[in-house]
This record gives sequence, structure tokens and C-alpha cells, in this order.
Amino acid sequence: MAQFSESVDVPDMGRRQFMNLLTFGTVTGVALGALYPVVKYFIPPVSGASGGGTTAKDELGNDVSLSKFLESHNTGDHVLAQGLKGDPTYIVVESKEAISDYGINAVCTHLGCVVPWNIAEQKFKCPCHGSQYDATGKVVRGPAPLSLALAHTAPKDDKIVLTKWTETDFRTGEAPWWA
Ligand code: FES
Repeated sequence: MAQFSESVDVPDMGRRQFMNLLTFGTVTGVALGALYPVVKYFIPPVSGASGGGTTAKDELGNDVSLSKFLESHNTGDHVLAQGLKGDPTYIVVESKEAISDYGINAVCTHLGCVVPWNIAEQKFKCPCHGSQYDATGKVVRGPAPLSLALAHTAPKDDKIVLTKWTETDFRTGEAPWWA
């Protein structure tokens, strides 16, 4: 009788272990799948530009075409792209022919929320704790302690190339806190 019960139990255990493994594998697979965009976000994209710059990318990871970008936006628009280290960065439309020579890092200097551009009020308003920044990214209301970081932007071969901003912050006249 004992033998019979063992012969029933053994395959049963095996099946349970197999099911556990399968469940674990599935959960792990789902978790890894969910983590992938997060991990990818933190890995700097391979630079597509020569000379040390980073090419601005759209939300799909494709290089932004400057001519199409200017065609599809209006003067004064602030448009999100992936900039240095993949950081969300606003490209500013200066006119129908040109972008501004600076991009504005969209990461709030309070606790890191991505700050949306409010077109009606012509300022950035953080949805997390109410910080506000003017159209150049200069902080005008706390709790954010600092203005949004800057990056240089320049047109090159119908692309937008971003480079580090290490000079004086033109909005404050001070050394850049992010450099
Ligand atoms: Fe923007 Fe707190 S993260 S105000």
C-alpha cells in the first residue's frame, strides 16, 4: 500500500514542481518584459552624431528630421524629444526656419517628474507638486530649487545634434548646476 502511494506521489510532485517552474518562468518573463522599457530608458542611446554630440530622437527612437520637425510645428512650440543620455528634452521652435540653440531638459529639479509644456500659459507646470518654469526653463515657482537643465542644440545634416551645456546659464548668469 505504501509503495502504491509513493508511486502516485512521485509523479505528482514532479508535476507540481514543473508547474511551479512554469509559473516562475512566466512571471519572470512578464517582469522582464515590463522592465525592458525602464532599463532601456536608463541606457544612453548610441550616439548617431559624429563629434561627440547626440542626435535628438523621437518617441520611437528614430532620429528627428529637422525639416519635417519645422514643417509640423509652429513658432514658439516646445516639443519633447530624447536628448543627451536619452533624457526627455524640449526642442524649442524659434521660427518656421530654425530651432533655438538650446534644448530644455524636461526633468523637474524637485523630484524628477517630467514637466509638461503648458501652451496656453506659455510655461512649464509640474503636475507633481506645482513647480513652474518659464518658457526658457527658468524656475519661477517652487518647490523646485533650480531651473531646468540646458543642452546645446544645433542643426546638422537635417538632424538635431545635442551637446553638453557647460557654459554660464544664460537665464541666471551662474555656472550650470548640472555640469
Ligand atoms: Fe516637480 Fe515636485 S517633481 S514639483
